[in-house]
Amino acid sequence: MSIESVKEELEKDLKNINSLEQLNDLKIKYLSKKGLITELNSEIKNISNDKKKEFGQKVNELKNTFNNFYEEKKNEYEEELLNKKLANEAIDISLPATKVVTGAPNMLEKLIEEVEEVFMSMGYDVVDGPEIELDKYNFEMLNIPKGHPARDAQDTFYIEGEEILLRSQTSPVQVRTMLKGKGKEPIRVICPGKTYRRDDDDATHSHQFMQIEGLLVDKNISLSDLKGTIDIAAKKIFGPETETRFHPSYYQFTEPSVEGDISCFNCHGKGCHICKNTGWITVIGAGVVHPKVLSMSGYDPNEWSGFAFGFGADRLAMLKYGIDDCRALYNTDLRELKNFDRKEMEWND
Ligand code: DAH
Repeated sequence: MSIESVKEELEKDLKNINSLEQLNDLKIKYLSKKGLITELNSEIKNISNDKKKEFGQKVNELKNTFNNFYEEKKNEYEEELLNKKLANEAIDISLPATKVVTGAPNMLEKLIEEVEEVFMSMGYDVVDGPEIELDKYNFEMLNIPKGHPARDAQDTFYIEGEEILLRSQTSPVQVRTMLKGKGKEPIRVICPGKTYRRDDDDATHSHQFMQIEGLLVDKNISLSDLKGTIDIAAKKIFGPETETRFHPSYYQFTEPSVEGDISCFNCHGKGCHICKNTGWITVIGAGVVHPKVLSMSGYDPNEWSGFAFGFGADRLAMLKYGIDDCRALYNTDLRELKNFDRKEMEWND
């Protein structure tokens, strides 16, 4: 091919370029080993000496034309591609965000934490005790000897013979705490924990439930200290307008024994389905620690005194969050937990 025809073809080709690929194809067409310009270049040796210089210059010109064009276009296309890519990858802040699915606290856990915080703020420690317990701690050292009718009410699961059982109440933690509490008075503990009983015949009873136990041992402790403590806790948990009242009851490990009521947080005393139209809800068993219980755990009742209380955390959570079936408290379904979460938000308003 002559220089003129290559030049002509090159000029035509350059006009028709509209992509980086086409540009690279042209580079192959003209400058690869068998490219048109390369071939012209290799013809130099066949050209007569007097025309060699001119021929060489023309081929070089062609090469330069191509290379200049190539560099310029290549930059142009690359910039264009980059801009396109940036435009595609740009974040559109007007798009709706992807929703992050968050968890929701379990209502029972939440209630327990709240109670713990209230009592910790009054100087109480949160303690633990075993769920597999000795009859001695679950009953005997709480002044409920073998054969005592009060045992029947607790429908206990025995594991081995008559000595090892699943604790039917958190009260054995009182005994365990007193046994190792010497010299560290005043004893102020609360113990949330699982308890077990054989009755699960309706939606408000389960074979396993949560109790929270409280114990205070010091000098000159009376029923009024108990009343004051319960009153403060109830106001913190159920709202400042909450009132409390005690009425007499009977437990083997306290004397005197009481049951504590709170004024209904739902109707504030007017009467509703939650308080069964009485305006009051019984939530706690309590009393002054029985002298026998103190002395069995090594505290001289002439020197020491205390109060104790215990309540069902499940029941309290059900009341507070308006749950009818205690099994819902052990549910891990986020949709339901979210529902309760929402309810509580309304509750706090
Ligand atoms: N343990 C009792 C129960 O399960 C509740 C209770 C009542 C605990 C009175 C106490 C208390 O510490 O003083 O029914």
